[in-house]
Amino acid sequence: TSYDTILVETRGRVGWITLNRPDALNALNTQVMTDVVAAASAFDADEAIGAIVLTGSERAFAAGADIKEMESKSGLDVLMGDHFGGWAQFAAVRTPVIAAVSGYALGGGCELAMMCDIIIAADTAKFGQPEINLGVIPGMGGSQRLLRAVGYYKAADLILTGRMMDAAEAERSGLVSRVVPAAELLAEAGKTAETIAAKSLPSVYAAKAALDAAMETTLAEGLRFERHVFASLFDTSDQKEGMSAFREKRSPDFTNR
Ligand code: HXC
Repeated sequence: TSYDTILVETRGRVGWITLNRPDALNALNTQVMTDVVAAASAFDADEAIGAIVLTGSERAFAAGADIKEMESKSGLDVLMGDHFGGWAQFAAVRTPVIAAVSGYALGGGCELAMMCDIIIAADTAKFGQPEINLGVIPGMGGSQRLLRAVGYYKAADLILTGRMMDAAEAERSGLVSRVVPAAELLAEAGKTAETIAAKSLPSVYAAKAALDAAMETTLAEGLRFERHVFASLFDTSDQKEGMSAFREKRSPDFTNR
C-alpha cells in the first residue's frame, strides 16, 4: 500500500512509519491521521511485526496539527467532524511504538509522540505545547498525557507559556526515554525496536496493556489487572520456553504462542 503523507517500510520484524510532509514540517492534517492510523493498524494486525518506529524528518518530527486546515473551523465542525478522533485508534495499537524525534515536536506533534510507548530524542529535538499562542489549548491529549509524564508544574509551565523545551530538559523532566546524538537517532530507535520485536509477542502486548492500565486506572485496579495478565502468560508455550532456556543457559526460541 502507498500513502500520500507517510513512507512505510518493513525491516525484519520492525514496521517503520515516516511522516512525510516536508513543506509543512509534517503538520498533522486529516490525511496524515488517516494514513498513520491505517499503516499502524496494518502493522498491528501483522503477527510478523513486533514493534513500530514512528519518525519524521531531521528538522521536524511534527510541528503540530495543521493550523491552516483548522483555522476556519467552527466548534461544531470540530465536534461533529471528530477532527482528531482517529488518533485514539493509533494510541490503541497493541504493538509497542517508538517515537524517534528529531527537531520540532510541537502541539499535536508532541501529543503524537506521547501516544507512543518509548520516546527517543535526538539532541536537536524541541518539545512544546504552543497552542496557547494560537488562542486554543492542546486537543490531542496534551493536557492529560503531558501532566502524567512530567507532573503538574512542568506541564503547566509548558502549556500556559507555550514555550519550547530542548531534549535535555525533556529527558530531565521524564518526557523522553533517551537522548542520543542526532546522527544516531534512527539506528538507536531501530535497535530498540528490534530488541522488543525479539521478545514473545503475547508478553509484549501484555506489558503494554499493563503500562496503559497504570496510566488510566487506580493502583488497586492496576495491580489486579497486572496479576491476572501475569497469570495468563503462564499458559503460553513461550513462558515455558523462556524459563527452560534460562535454566539451560541458552537463548529462548520464542514462537509467539
Ligand atoms: C500548518 C505549518 C505548521 C502547522 C509549520 N507549518 N507548522 N503549517 N500547521 N502546525 C508550515 C509553515 O506555515 C511554513 O509553510 C512551513 O511549514 C515552514 O515553517 P516555518 O514557520 O517557515 O519554519 P520556521 O521559521 O523554521 O519555524 C518553525 C516553527 C514554526 C517554530 C516550528 O513553523 C511554528 O511555530 N509552527 C507552528 C507550531 C504550532 O503552533 N504548533 C501547534 C499547532 S496547534 P509556508 O507555506 O508558509 O512556507 C496543535 C493543536 C493540536 O497542534 C491539538 C488539536 C486541537
